[in-house]
Amino acid sequence: MNIELLNSNIADTKAEINVEFLSSHDLDSHLDKELLTKAGFKAEQDSICFLHERKLLLCGLEKNEADEVRSASASMIKTLKSSNYASIKISVISNSTLTGLVEGIILGGYEFNNYKSEPNEISIKDIFLVTNDLDFEALNTTFKNALIVANATCFTRDIVNTAPQELHPQSLVDVAKKLAADNSLECNILQEDDLAKEKMGAMLAVGRASVHRSALIHLSYKPANAKKIISLIGKGLTYDSGGLSLKPATSMVTMKMDKSGACAVLGMIKAASEMKLDVEIHAFIGAVENMIGGNAYKPDDILVSRSGTTIEVRNTDAEGRLVLADVLSYAQDNVKADNIFDFATLTGACMVALGQYTTGLMGHSNKLKHDISRAATASGELTGSLPFNRHLKKLIKSEIADICNTASKPYGGAITAGLFLDKFILEENKDKWVHFDIAGSAYTESPWDCNVYGGTGAGVRMISEYLKNI
Ligand code: BES
Ligand code: ZN
Ligand code: ZN
Repeated sequence: MNIELLNSNIADTKAEINVEFLSSHDLDSHLDKELLTKAGFKAEQDSICFLHERKLLLCGLEKNEADEVRSASASMIKTLKSSNYASIKISVISNSTLTGLVEGIILGGYEFNNYKSEPNEISIKDIFLVTNDLDFEALNTTFKNALIVANATCFTRDIVNTAPQELHPQSLVDVAKKLAADNSLECNILQEDDLAKEKMGAMLAVGRASVHRSALIHLSYKPANAKKIISLIGKGLTYDSGGLSLKPATSMVTMKMDKSGACAVLGMIKAASEMKLDVEIHAFIGAVENMIGGNAYKPDDILVSRSGTTIEVRNTDAEGRLVLADVLSYAQDNVKADNIFDFATLTGACMVALGQYTTGLMGHSNKLKHDISRAATASGELTGSLPFNRHLKKLIKSEIADICNTASKPYGGAITAGLFLDKFILEENKDKWVHFDIAGSAYTESPWDCNVYGGTGAGVRMISEYLKNI
């Protein structure tokens, strides 16, 4: 699908179908009002009316705003994908809705066909976004950035969706190396012997029963005049069986998505480098597979993490925090960053707290969480803050080691997981750190907004927006 922004008149643009977005207020004055009334079209949000003979596709909008346009344009592209038209034209309403329009088309039209013997043939070849707005330059910048961010989101989705027999820690290393080569990023890989030298006892324990060796991936994007340095840390569990605290069969299905944090940080550094942002970015990924076996780590084990903090294992399914403990420690010792953000499909409890669509934000700085949530809202992603408190902190105390990997009470599980990570954040970095629990938002089995079945790419749009504003 080729998407082009054209500086011309919509009437002069040649295409088979003209797409119009309209709200119920616009219905009365519409040329085809009678036809639309007969068709029962009320211009409700995400509703579609296809007038084939008039070569017109109408999309209902509740409001002329970015979120509504994104969702409506996702509905529009799904309808057009099942038709046999080759070209469409859409008139651009405003700069502020252009990003939503582009994202709706690319993200709503996304398909992962790698394992289909007969992938859907899509007839749409050309999509023309047409404007004769005077400030074409500004629109064009918005357009180019929207394309970069949407394509980076699809890049993240592709890796998340790849099956775990194909996408294991060492093949995630290959994906990272290829991205580094394509986008001129620095790339440093720590293999298991390096991890042992770094004394990463927590991360190594989680991956011990896997036939695939664990790895720590460090990519960096270093522009000449960077205004800030940002470290992005991703949980890269290429499969989470739960380990000896084995997941029930139904909960294990979809656990290839436990690498979504890692895939998101790859998408973020890809987008930032392609937009040529003046921000130095470091992406750190703990790539590990949590399996069972005779040498598996077990409940009752005491692990010595890289920072020296000892951890009592009470549940091997709370593995993400163990991997992140060592990766966070490594990241802080190797890069003095202005901000440290970690992304992880960390807890089912986050979904219980916020629902499936919302990313949980945790950290000590209300200002930083507020800034992030504003960027998220602007990007069309949902976030909710989950507050730390000293009472919940007591629940992860251990009688035998420095800390437990699970809490002693079942409530507030997303926060106690966040508080576990907090133990590995250096004092000087407390206010620079935010933890993003993307357990619910990273993957879906039913479409919503511009998300389709599978990985959503959660985090990529919000962090790209945050970084653009630095
Ligand atoms: N990867 C899971 C969390 C998860 C669950 C992500 C469902 C997406 C969907 C994580 O490793 C895990 O298993 N967490 C446990 C923690 C518990 C043992 C304290 C959980 O949430 O049940
Ligand atoms: Zn787990
Ligand atoms: Zn996990």
